Amino acid sequence: MVLTLFLNIIPKSVFKGGFFMFTRMDKGTKEDWEHIGAEHLPHIVDMPNRVIGMLEQLEGFTGGFAVNQLHHCLQTATMARNANASDEMVLISLIHDIGKVISVIGHGEICAEIIKPYVSEDAYHIIRTHQDFQGEHYYHYMDKPTDLRKQYEDEPWYAKATEFTDDWDQQAFDPEFEVDSLESFKPLIEQFFGAPQQA
Ligand SMILES: [Fe+2]
Repeated sequence: MVLTLFLNIIPKSVFKGGFFMFTRMDKGTKEDWEHIGAEHLPHIVDMPNRVIGMLEQLEGFTGGFAVNQLHHCLQTATMARNANASDEMVLISLIHDIGKVISVIGHGEICAEIIKPYVSEDAYHIIRTHQDFQGEHYYHYMDKPTDLRKQYEDEPWYAKATEFTDDWDQQAFDPEFEVDSLESFKPLIEQFFGAPQQA
């Protein structure tokens, strides 16, 4: 009787990784959360490697285009780099299609949410909406409106989104184009994804 009462009072915990951990969040302690925070740190600082891994996975996906999706991303980023775009524009040109590793449908939004803590608000919106801008070049073949970008005309990032889409992204399907290597973009990936701008 006394033992049952005692067991109901103390939070249930399991021994995990040398530490007694709660089995439900509302029974957690400050120490539990400090332990979880410390255990998460290696995962957080490994973000650049996961982004690189997603880019590498795109090499295996061509989807009917003349080039695979890694080549497309490298060509988009190389074109941005050759146009002396800012580091951030080169970065988002490189990673703008990594959402396709998960799903082509909604890939812009997927990528935007992944990069949100690491880039400016402008960059986030450019990637989030990039299909609406891209549609101008081919949606008429799918009976979809081609002027979806119009809704963003007053946004401060509109001109940058237009340059990204029209000058680089939609032109980056050329197998003859000599792309810069993924290796050459790794310092940029480290620079942005090494630590989030927003916690
Ligand atoms: Fe693209």
